Amino acid sequence: MKKAAVIGSISTDFVVTTEVIPNQGETVVGQSFQTFFGGKGANQAVALSRAGVDVFMLGAVGSDSFGKELIRNLSENAIHTEMIQTIEESESGSAHIQIKDGDNRIVIIPGANDLISIEMVKQYQEELQKMDIIVLQNEIPLETIEYLIDWCFEHKIKTIYNPAPAKEIAGKYIDKVTYITPNEHETALLFKGEARENVLKRYPNKLIVTLGEQGAVFHDGEKEVVVPAHRVTNVVDTTGAGDTFNGYFAKGILDGKSLAESLALGNAASALAIQAKGAQDGIPVYEKVVGAL
Ligand code: RIB
Repeated sequence: MKKAAVIGSISTDFVVTTEVIPNQGETVVGQSFQTFFGGKGANQAVALSRAGVDVFMLGAVGSDSFGKELIRNLSENAIHTEMIQTIEESESGSAHIQIKDGDNRIVIIPGANDLISIEMVKQYQEELQKMDIIVLQNEIPLETIEYLIDWCFEHKIKTIYNPAPAKEIAGKYIDKVTYITPNEHETALLFKGEARENVLKRYPNKLIVTLGEQGAVFHDGEKEVVVPAHRVTNVVDTTGAGDTFNGYFAKGILDGKSLAESLALGNAASALAIQAKGAQDGIPVYEKVVGAL
């Protein structure tokens, strides 16, 4: 069984659904409130695990009651949790999400996720060297991400870097990752002022721009290739769609599938995920995704 490590955020999502998004100084009455397990790192780990990969999560939670639940949830999803630290006197990460018409607005409070330091990840180098792929996002400190990209490059470990939420990072790190998967907004920030077609051409078979309802696009060295998304008529909640996409994309790469085939797997999985509420509840198992291809 292939091994993947996800190094990233673990959070609780506090989700309200509302028909009206309040303006500054305004109070509105919403429809529902629920908590869900979330955090981009944890969501991607769950997607990989449901895809049938042996997954190791490296992260941090606070010493509050949420922290225990967050770790329990990952264990119940068959994810190895030995590399998750509970940080005393820190709160666990949280995301505060408003959903209107299936789409979301999110405020994150990083909490313990912000304490994943270079020193902390160094403690697990021996374990990390055994991985077939390492998956990263932007909900932990940037200096830790930069260190990990350098380290994985030196140790010839494949990486998928999902630069979400958007943050600037030096081009030398983009050169060193195996795949980078920004959405259009993140692409615009990473490659300021450059036309998307030029950047795609500059990073053939590495830069994958996700296009929401349009699917995903990359350059294969000769031409642009668009891998279309599945049409979904009953969108319930798009939270975690990108995480499901990245987890299943990683599964395709681990199985030796082509880039286009791996992206098709990611698209099929995320189309299923958005038909349920909560970032993780809708993440499908592998058989279901293959059936939807
Ligand atoms: O990508 C979705 C995730 O982003 C949510 O689960 C929330 O935790 C936010 O961090």
